[in-house]
Amino acid sequence: MSNDEQEIMAQQKPLSLIAIVAITRTNGLGVNGQLPWRLSREMAHFRKATSAVGENEGSKMNAVIMGRKTWQSIPPKFRPLKGRVNVVISRQSGKEAEKELGISPEEHSHLVSSLDAAADLLGSSSTPSIYRTFLIGGAQLYKEAMERERSQSWSLDKLMITRIHSPAFEECDVFLPEFRTSDQIKEDERFAGIGNDEPAIGKLKPLPEQKWSAASDQQFDQFMGGPVSHGIEEEKDVRYTFQLWDRKE
Ligand SMILES: NC(=O)c1ccc[n+]([C@@H]2O[C@H](COP(=O)([O-])OP(=O)(O)OC[C@H]3O[C@@H](n4cnc5c(N)ncnc54)[C@H](OP(=O)(O)O)[C@@H]3O)[C@@H](O)[C@H]2O)c1
Repeated sequence: MSNDEQEIMAQQKPLSLIAIVAITRTNGLGVNGQLPWRLSREMAHFRKATSAVGENEGSKMNAVIMGRKTWQSIPPKFRPLKGRVNVVISRQSGKEAEKELGISPEEHSHLVSSLDAAADLLGSSSTPSIYRTFLIGGAQLYKEAMERERSQSWSLDKLMITRIHSPAFEECDVFLPEFRTSDQIKEDERFAGIGNDEPAIGKLKPLPEQKWSAASDQQFDQFMGGPVSHGIEEEKDVRYTFQLWDRKE
């Protein structure tokens, strides 16, 4: 990298990341490399959130960043996720790995070696101009982003959560780190009509102080560019709620 390029990188604002994830009451998010549920309205919410670009944003696109295992959990006919720049993170690199994984920059999919490299790529001229960037999983990438919170290249600013109240999906084998205090957990449980004495709370490790705050219904609608369902959704006997959380400074 030339000195000029280094200076430009140093002046650039870190890329703002939004993690989007569906989780159970105990923050379970996957089992055996797959999603434990199949919810078409939840999928539609994911598609809309990650695809929509604000009015007056010209030819900008959104980007989705994911780990190699999440990429491979998407059926080949649905990847890359269309209308979005797809960035896959792996320790494998080179043309051979791209070929094996079905990744092709001509079709808006890219292979990079770290979250920092993903953010740098999206801030460069190698991709279309980006409106919003979503971290779409999986467990390893969410954990890294939530533990580091920010780097020179990116900053994790929002969490778009689908909270699955029931059933418990106890078979989950990968989890999101807890991001709420015990009062915030109790508020979520109260909203879902679940008593505070239910055992799920005991399985979580609440934060001692608030790091994230729940956006109001109005802020959530504004973020989505239209009304979002704020109640409890029911689909195939699964009850869930859409939420948006902002990182406190
Ligand atoms: N509930 C939800 O909303 C949701 C969303 C997405 C995924 N999921 C679920 O999450 C599970 C997959 O999560 P996972 O944690 O097993 O896998 P993952 O995070 O999708 O991918 C892990 C892989 O990413 C690469 N990677 C991770 N950190 C890296 C780093 N710092 N530098 C370079 N490469 C790195 C490595 O690839 P290499 O091994 O190639 O080096 C690693 O094996 C599945 O069950 C999936 O269905 C759930």
